[in-house]
Amino acid sequence: MSSTETGTTTNEHGYRSFVIGGFSFERDEHFVHIHWPTGRHVMAADVFLKALMRDVSWNFFYGIVNFDAVFGTMNHYGNVDMFAGRYNAAYRKAELDHQENFGHDDLMACFKEILADWTNADFDPFASPQETGTPFGPKKGDNQTAVNRTRVLANRMVGVPGDEATRSDENGFPKNRMFADVDQTEPAVHAEPGYEQEVAAFNLFAYLSRSDVTWNPSVVSVCRESLYCPTTEEFILPVIHGNDRVEWFVQLSDEITWKVEDRETGAMRATVVMKAGDCAAMPADIRHQGYSPKRSMLLVWENAAASLPDLIASGQAPTVPVSF
Ligand code: PHB
Ligand code: FE
Repeated sequence: MSSTETGTTTNEHGYRSFVIGGFSFERDEHFVHIHWPTGRHVMAADVFLKALMRDVSWNFFYGIVNFDAVFGTMNHYGNVDMFAGRYNAAYRKAELDHQENFGHDDLMACFKEILADWTNADFDPFASPQETGTPFGPKKGDNQTAVNRTRVLANRMVGVPGDEATRSDENGFPKNRMFADVDQTEPAVHAEPGYEQEVAAFNLFAYLSRSDVTWNPSVVSVCRESLYCPTTEEFILPVIHGNDRVEWFVQLSDEITWKVEDRETGAMRATVVMKAGDCAAMPADIRHQGYSPKRSMLLVWENAAASLPDLIASGQAPTVPVSF
């Protein structure tokens, strides 16, 4: 495990610098600069902060979170690799790639500090570009409410008594500008006497029309390891997600174009255009990034079984759900 030491002084732009293990992070008015023993990398501040926000709030997510083609994290559920160039064919060939393993809590604490210090008052890293201010410029205040947001997680299925994840005007979730036409009628439920607390239904489209963020799946139902994680999407998924298991997408409205690349090298494998009603399985050996020209609704269906990554990595389970 590597050590963390974070700077408490600020640079001429007002931002703190951070060091963890062999990696160091600095930001200026436009860019984030990452250094490691064999190289250095520069990223636009908005791209970095939006990816960092997801990595933090998703607890390093499933498998690999690539911030871009060079930098990212791989989750081992308890400990985490932070890497540069590890999943990039050119860096690998030049032997300039680098990765270090950190305890989950150590890297999470460092990432949370970076996110809190580098996110300015006007910027919400979860918002779509047209619904937030600028991340650029010298340090200007902070946005603790935005950066401390966690994934919406229904205690029970959305709509069942005891659930706190219902989105409504009363809960402070107005309809999004792009979903003005979405019918808000809730289904009528006629439960047998005695089952009124057990039987429920809700209007998922109405629920999603009130999502205040983009590219942030919320869990609306759990059936053993099967998680339904619908989300609303606009502009570009801020991470390039490298799966460690098969993942299903059901396009519920509008359209998303997915760029699908080889998980190890980044070589382009497919462009998948998903229109409303389309369903696709993303294999376990790819990475993907979605482009949504208009705010759209997507159902991400995850199998959360902890045994899956090892079964797939060892070849005992296939990387695709079905072979034709
Ligand atoms: C994914 O990586 O599969 C993913 C992540 C966030 C989303 C949608 C899909 O909002
Ligand atoms: Fe994914």
